[in-house]
Amino acid sequence: MVIVLDFGGQYNQLIARRVRECNVYCEVLPYNLSVEKIKEMNPKGIIFTGGPASVYAEEAPHCDKKIFELNIPILGICYGAQLMTHLLSGQVVSADVREYGKTEVSANVNSKLFKDVTENSICWMSHTDRIEQLPEGFVVSAKSDSCPVAAMEHAAKNLYAVQFHPEVVHTQEGTKMLRNFLYEVCGCAGDWIMSSFVEESIQAIRDKVGSGKVLCALSGGVDSSVAAVLLSKAVGKQLTCIFVDHGLLRKNEGDEVEKVFGPEGSLDLNFVRVNVQERFYSKLAGVEEPEAKRKIIGEEFIRVFEEEAKKIGTVDFLVQGTIYPDVIESGLGKSAVIKSHHNVGGLPDYVDFKEIIEPLRLLFKDEVRKTGLELGLPEYLVYRQPFPGPGLAIRIIGEVTAEKVAILQDADFIYRQELENAGLNKEIGQYFAALTNMRSVGVMGDERTYDYAIALRAVTTTDFMTAEAAELPWDILGKCSNRIVNEVKSVNRVLYDCTGKPPATIEFE
Ligand code: XMP
Repeated sequence: MVIVLDFGGQYNQLIARRVRECNVYCEVLPYNLSVEKIKEMNPKGIIFTGGPASVYAEEAPHCDKKIFELNIPILGICYGAQLMTHLLSGQVVSADVREYGKTEVSANVNSKLFKDVTENSICWMSHTDRIEQLPEGFVVSAKSDSCPVAAMEHAAKNLYAVQFHPEVVHTQEGTKMLRNFLYEVCGCAGDWIMSSFVEESIQAIRDKVGSGKVLCALSGGVDSSVAAVLLSKAVGKQLTCIFVDHGLLRKNEGDEVEKVFGPEGSLDLNFVRVNVQERFYSKLAGVEEPEAKRKIIGEEFIRVFEEEAKKIGTVDFLVQGTIYPDVIESGLGKSAVIKSHHNVGGLPDYVDFKEIIEPLRLLFKDEVRKTGLELGLPEYLVYRQPFPGPGLAIRIIGEVTAEKVAILQDADFIYRQELENAGLNKEIGQYFAALTNMRSVGVMGDERTYDYAIALRAVTTTDFMTAEAAELPWDILGKCSNRIVNEVKSVNRVLYDCTGKPPATIEFE
């Protein structure tokens, strides 16, 4: 494994992702991880990430200098390169101008780091400070017009540093450089694949659970589905999955989940589908305010889950589908907390259990998907769109009724089907239909109609914190509009939402 020491840079997750794309397992850990701990973990290499600080700043994150005595290869990136310089008694200075953007860098192709890299290639720079004087024993291995030390190395000690960011796509041969560090310098074999993750996880879960009982709240989403399958492969019938069908799921979704996890599926587990559609509709009757709707659904969900869990008796472990970005974003591997994610640390207090199990805690979303496929989950579950807990209720503006849910399910189904047929489904971050509470006049045949308007939404996004409206081809939108108006009762108008986030949110409520 490789350790990515986190100094608070914005691309840190990306570094970890790139390393794993080279089939090398890595973990992002805080910059102040002790040297003893590092030694114990015995990594094949260490990467220092970038970070916003200047190495001379009072609060600047520094790691222990003894790290250089471990004889473990180290690659410093941006701030990490400057820190390596500083700790090894070189000199870093503040440049007059910030170097930012795509920059042509000429590299010494005889360096192990730049093996098979073209001599002059485009790299992404984003720094103000720069390396002025090399630490003893180092040589310059790349430079740019305004950066005399774009890379340096002490090959005998396996210490490498780059001022630019090899992890971002703008650095054209960045992945090659990272791969060179991992394979040529660290000697990694590049044999970390999902099947080995699956095997190791199953064994680790068995060791931990023993003969205990495990409970999982299955939502049908990618993360909880993959977590559930992994658990079922590990402990079989010791696992009970409770699937609450609150009547706010997408068309056919409840049945699809049941097909895979229920008695007809091939998995060995206890599956409980709780059909409480009517219970939720009656709680939601007459409620229009978005936050009130969310609160009712959240509370009712917990109540149902609690009732079902009680029937099982004592539970030893509760499964959560936490994934790696949640863990990193929650600040466990970083000096500064960006946001606290609800999945991490906040244990549900409505079920008595001894311990939590988070089998996907170390995986990125695409790795969760690969694991799902590896475990034999069908593609439609593995590539499922992100879907909020309150479900269609927050895509129906105003009061939720069974009739409105049915209208929206049908319209959304057509929309999703058309985008899938056009092959756009994997390119777009999120897409769905919403039911506005607006009715308007139309004409169908020779008849006047007075019906609902459906809004279609599609956004591109990397993190769901900000998003842009996707520019869907007009013919596809036209086809969706035609089909929805023709095939879905009570709809006579289709609108496309071209608002970004901000100022809108992705969901409608
Ligand atoms: P917004 O609407 O806030 O959505 O721009 C950002 C992302 O979060 C999802 N979302 C939720 N997910 N429970 C969830 O599990 C929720 O209550 C919830 N609300 C929004 C939304 O689908 C989008 O991906």
